[in-house]
Amino acid sequence: MPVVPATEASIRRAADIVRRGGLVAFPTETVYGLGADAFSATACARIFEVKRRPRFDPLIVHVEGEEDLPSVCAFEDERARRLALSFWPGPLTLVLPRAERVPDIVTAGLSTVAVRVPSHPVARALLAAAGCPIAAPSANPFGYISPTLASHVDGQIGDQVDLILDGGPCTVGVESTIVDLSSERPALLRPGATETERIEALVGPLERPARSDAPRAPGQLASHYAPRTPVVLLERRAFAPPHGTRAGLLAFGTPDAGMASRYTAVETLSVSGDLREAAANLFACLHRLDRAGLDVIYAEPVPDEGLGAAIRDRLGRAAAEPR
Ligand code: TXA
Ligand code: MG
Repeated sequence: MPVVPATEASIRRAADIVRRGGLVAFPTETVYGLGADAFSATACARIFEVKRRPRFDPLIVHVEGEEDLPSVCAFEDERARRLALSFWPGPLTLVLPRAERVPDIVTAGLSTVAVRVPSHPVARALLAAAGCPIAAPSANPFGYISPTLASHVDGQIGDQVDLILDGGPCTVGVESTIVDLSSERPALLRPGATETERIEALVGPLERPARSDAPRAPGQLASHYAPRTPVVLLERRAFAPPHGTRAGLLAFGTPDAGMASRYTAVETLSVSGDLREAAANLFACLHRLDRAGLDVIYAEPVPDEGLGAAIRDRLGRAAAEPR
């Protein structure tokens, strides 16, 4: 079994694996990542194979601190420094001009690279012990629900990674916010765990590039983060599922007692309607519903503010038809 509790010794072992070109899954504050030495093109190629990820979808490079950035990207941008000061270590990813040393496979041949400094103590200890930047996408098969538990990783790709460090549930639960600073006007490529409002307060309004099939951030693909069970977004709460369907409910707030009994399975993102709690629970709730043998999952609406924007984004893409 490749799952081991994250301890000083197992983190050292994981760092050795990374340095030797292997693949390690590890917890971050957002979701579990599937990591490899960011300077090794062959190690990073394995990430794409294991995830069945298209080569046009670049990876995020994780570093321990700003002092590690010069070998990865240009970090002179005043806006980047301001955002880094406020949000690093933490769930913000910046897209900046790349350094030459970063292999093409990591950036999908783009002239930019996505970087972040994670705050999770296990991720930080792993980066320190490995002594190299670690390229890591979320540790799930491409397009499927992201992992917030070691068991999610193990169940999906466990047989293909060298080690999974178990650091317990991810506390934030949705991926980092991605801001592109490579052009004059900063752009929001993915809403995420750092609230857009707080970013805009520091660097002004963010452009929001349209989602498409040839996206600037391939993570903008319309269908993503998706369970195998179809997801339908509800416009309001207290919806009665059609008779005779095995329906699941993803509730936001206390589910209506009368209605809940008509569902085969109910998962509640947050009983009190707290957006942080909802974000932390989102992917685990979707994983459980997806394993419940349902015909359909109905998702209640979540407010479009703060972390709600990231949750709505993930649910919207979970509901989109794959193309
Ligand atoms: O919270 C997170 O960001 C997690 C943890 C593991 O750090 N990682 C994560 O990685 O969500 P991934 O690969 O699932 O999503 C990375 C996104 C992709 O949608 C990719 O298109 C975008 O980052 N990206 C990476 N490099 C880029 C670049 N140079 N320009 C634009 N988008 C980029
Ligand atoms: Mg992902």
